Amino acid sequence: MPWVIRDVVKDLNKAVTRRWHSLDPLLPEPSDLPEGCAPPLLALGENSNGLAVCRHEHVAADTLAQTWGAATKFILSVRLRETDVNPALDDLLTQWREHLAGQPEAEQDDTAAIVNWPARDVTGVPALLRHGLQPMSVVAVRPAGRPIPAASTAPPEGLVIRPASPADLDVVTELEMGVVRYDAHFGGSIPRPATGALVRADTQAALAQRPGWTWLAEQDGRPVALTVVEPPAAAAWIANMTRPGATAYLQNMFVRPGERGGGIGAALVRQVNAELDARGIDLTLLHYAQVNPLSVPFWHQMGYRPLWTAWEARPALVLR
Ligand SMILES: CC(C)(COP(=O)(O)OP(=O)(O)OC[C@H]1O[C@@H](n2cnc3c(N)ncnc32)[C@H](O)[C@@H]1OP(=O)(O)O)[C@@H](O)C(=O)NCCC(=O)NCCS
Repeated sequence: MPWVIRDVVKDLNKAVTRRWHSLDPLLPEPSDLPEGCAPPLLALGENSNGLAVCRHEHVAADTLAQTWGAATKFILSVRLRETDVNPALDDLLTQWREHLAGQPEAEQDDTAAIVNWPARDVTGVPALLRHGLQPMSVVAVRPAGRPIPAASTAPPEGLVIRPASPADLDVVTELEMGVVRYDAHFGGSIPRPATGALVRADTQAALAQRPGWTWLAEQDGRPVALTVVEPPAAAAWIANMTRPGATAYLQNMFVRPGERGGGIGAALVRQVNAELDARGIDLTLLHYAQVNPLSVPFWHQMGYRPLWTAWEARPALVLR
């Protein structure tokens, strides 16, 4: 990035930090902008009012990342300094649509145009909607110690919650696949031919390398629910989406269909939250699909609240 632009970004980032933190103290400072596929898009002709950078990401078929989104992603990073960002964002999204229209790879089906937007930055929402973007998924956050209201449903008697071990590989893999299948209803996941094998390999590695970060709930000796957490060392890929601190990522949560609504999920997450607090985790992040009717109310009751919304157009040229 040329130094003139770098200086503009530095100055913009200071203003954006102030704005973001007045909206939500759990947002990070804006990161340096990525190297874009083209020079930055400038908002409303004013070089210093705001800009955006488009990055093209090709997600390899042999990675689990392709199960959690499109194979080709066009990601727009936006920095705007105004209190009301709507006109400038509208302008940037118009320019972005023109840019994508000139990209042959954006015409393919397995593509997404993505803007990660601070959930509480509501003045941008009309522009995102007007350009055909949909709120697909949310990154939610729970700061350590956040209290959970008392449960109205007591967990079933005899529920045992224990750390999973490498010997639990089959059942942990099966429960993890349950989330992949359920989230597919909302576009949160896109099951691929390789997904089953990749989930199993990832689970095997996690159980071996990170003992104590996967929990099973058992009823009469039968595993009925699962929670998987990435400790800070494994969660670095997402930690910069919140303020600095020891950040974990709650990667997976599943209760078997016939066992839901009876307090098992809440009992498991209560215990996991308490263990994360005891281990010195400052912030825990997780994803949920915006229209998942089970997980949205569940996570809000469990102390997690929206931090970012991923707005997507799929395929990418649905963007208007
Ligand atoms: C989300 C999920 C883990 C919740 O587990 P659960 O054992 O059903 O949750 P609980 O019974 O402990 O319910 C906790 C709260 O969530 C709400 N809730 C959960 N399931 C509900 C249901 N089927 N009907 C009504 N409310 C429900 C209730 O408000 C309940 O609050 P309460 O304790 O005040 O009654 C479970 O529904 C699930 O596995 N869903 C499919 C996979 C999924 O969505 N995973 C999360 C991906 S982000």
